[in-house]
Amino acid sequence: MHTGESYHRFMLASRRARNVRRRFQNMALDLLPAGAAVLDFGAGTGIDARAYAARGHPTLVYEPSQPMRECLARHCREEIARKAIVPVGLPLTRKVQAVTANFAVLNHFAEHASLFETLARVVDRGGFVLASMLSPYYLGDARHEWWRANVMNLVRDGHYPSPGESGIHRFAPRVVVQAAAPHFRLERLVPRGPGLAFRLYMFVLLRRT
Ligand SMILES: C[S@@+](CC[C@H](N)C(=O)[O-])C[C@H]1O[C@@H](n2cnc3c(N)ncnc32)[C@H](O)[C@@H]1O
Repeated sequence: MHTGESYHRFMLASRRARNVRRRFQNMALDLLPAGAAVLDFGAGTGIDARAYAARGHPTLVYEPSQPMRECLARHCREEIARKAIVPVGLPLTRKVQAVTANFAVLNHFAEHASLFETLARVVDRGGFVLASMLSPYYLGDARHEWWRANVMNLVRDGHYPSPGESGIHRFAPRVVVQAAAPHFRLERLVPRGPGLAFRLYMFVLLRRT
């Protein structure tokens, strides 16, 4: 498992990761009103945070892993110095118009109800949460025994742990949407339907009600 500098280098070198990131950032930036504050939750090494700050969005970053935080501090040194990017810890208290969570941050949770309770307190009404999550239906994973062993769990419960990736869980979109209600409603899911079998990442856009 990559972390810190090695994660940073890997993510910048991987064409697939760069494509996913470009699509995610474009979606977030299109949705953010000019000057709106954003919290990058599970910000990793700060690649997205830097892009949001460069577009004039006051950017908070929360990242629990120390190697990731250290790399973020180096990568975003100049933005942190002029407070365009502000690292924050728990509990989250600062109000923002949007929370982004790119590259499977929400897959590190076994369930999301308490997380969305927390996010509902920090996201302004009318604001949004945009998360990229691992699709539980992705056929590229069908070669793994754990994927085939969990098909019935997916049908029955809408989620399953994926032992091939330590501490990672996969969720059907409806399970995330249920956990987010009543504070958020699903506004967009990309891709939808059969497309979920062909993309590793699905983008879930939840609007604060
Ligand atoms: C694959 S990395 C994605 C990092 C970053 N968002 C990006 O786009 O490169 C997943 C991140 O989720 C973070 N993470 C794990 N558990 C978390 C939690 N409970 N709350 C917030 N972030 C968490 C990890 O530390 C890691 O930085």
